[in-house]
Amino acid sequence: MLNDPVLLNDWHVVAYAPDLKERKPMAVRLLEEELVLWRNGKRIHAWRDLCLHRGTRLSLGKVENDCLICPYHGWTYNEEGQCIRFPAHPNQKPPATARTKVYQAREQYNWVWVTLGNPSQDIPPFPQWDDPAFHKIHCGPYDFQASGPRAVENFLDVTHFPFVHQGLLGDPAYPEVNDYEVETTPEGVTAQDISVWQPDPDGSGEGARVTYTYKVVRPLTAYFVKSKSQKRAISGGSRVIFARSSYSSEAGQTMTFTPRTSTASLISSNEGT
Ligand code: FES
Ligand SMILES: [Fe+2]
Repeated sequence: MLNDPVLLNDWHVVAYAPDLKERKPMAVRLLEEELVLWRNGKRIHAWRDLCLHRGTRLSLGKVENDCLICPYHGWTYNEEGQCIRFPAHPNQKPPATARTKVYQAREQYNWVWVTLGNPSQDIPPFPQWDDPAFHKIHCGPYDFQASGPRAVENFLDVTHFPFVHQGLLGDPAYPEVNDYEVETTPEGVTAQDISVWQPDPDGSGEGARVTYTYKVVRPLTAYFVKSKSQKRAISGGSRVIFARSSYSSEAGQTMTFTPRTSTASLISSNEGT
């Protein structure tokens, strides 16, 4: 496990919730910890992916009667991670130590969030999620050969648009970026009124000057609002594009989840990458 108390005591997106099916455990890796995710009904579980018997990955097992069963010798773990059955010794009660490591897991905004520690803060708010004016589009996960902070830095960086996203998000003839305000509050860091010329800001094929507002709400969770007008538009305005990105990481390797919400009918194909 990565030894970073800030990241350990934070919530991380580890999966797109609809991908986690009933009866189908899923293996994920968060901060160098191997995890098994599984669900029964509305409840989602995140455990260390390790059977206490011979170390088999529990993610290779199966879900039956609200229990996760190891594929090797059938040790059966209840929802609390306690082994309740040794098939080879059916009359022997498993000891309390036959219990796998259980982490907190929640489903929110169609994502599975997991923490390896005890966060003092809740999952960050996503105010546009419940606004019917916004379409919701699931994107990712994308695999970065980079650390989580480096991936966030890239997400916040508009100056690479003319070079890396030429023709879509930027134009080398207009590389300049204006001075802009950055504000730090207990809710995070906000940078606003960042004006960028884009040849195709919303996938319609028409160039326009757009304005970005970025918010970094947690070290590895950020979002932006992009407005096609000069006015700052947070929600309900016309042609507003809103996106948010979260990352679950390990050393030098990051998975990013980037859903987009938009009041526009078209969205540029590589926004947020
Ligand atoms: S290794 Fe899991 S039951 Fe034996
Ligand atoms: Fe990019």
